[in-house]
Amino acid sequence: MKLLVLFGPNLNLLGEREKEVYGSSSFEDLKVMLQKEAKRIDIEIEVFQSNHEGEIIDCIHSKRKEVDGIIINPGAYTHYSIAIRDAIKAVNIPTIEVHLSNVYAREEFRHHSVIAPVCWGQISGLGFLGFVLAMEAFALKGERNEPGKTC
Ligand code: DQA
Repeated sequence: MKLLVLFGPNLNLLGEREKEVYGSSSFEDLKVMLQKEAKRIDIEIEVFQSNHEGEIIDCIHSKRKEVDGIIINPGAYTHYSIAIRDAIKAVNIPTIEVHLSNVYAREEFRHHSVIAPVCWGQISGLGFLGFVLAMEAFALKGERNEPGKTC
């Protein structure tokens, strides 16, 4: 099983950015942890981060024949990128949206995701653990041979 793990804008600044919200571990730390956990779970992951909407869409398009699932933290694009939503819908690959912070406990504009309705599920507020749980969910889905739910 191969998963694409996508990160949107400003997530490259983890560890520097609003530490009280996102913690003090860096994006590099996150990538190392993800690869370690992927190995443990016995799946392959490819990680990509961009601050540009079009690059995220290009990545989804270019990997569409290679991956069995997508895990995405779209950053602020969560709240307004119809283009990323359409890309996920277009490729028809099961996707889990993950947020480090609990977006529902924050400003009201973060309570709405335009991406979540085209996702298999959403995890919010569990920090780095959210990505591990998303990988576990895909692995379990594979083991149980459950249909990859897309919307
Ligand atoms: C975030 C939440 C978004 O509202 C915010 O714009 C981010 C990070 C999170 O992981 O908690 O950049 O996606």
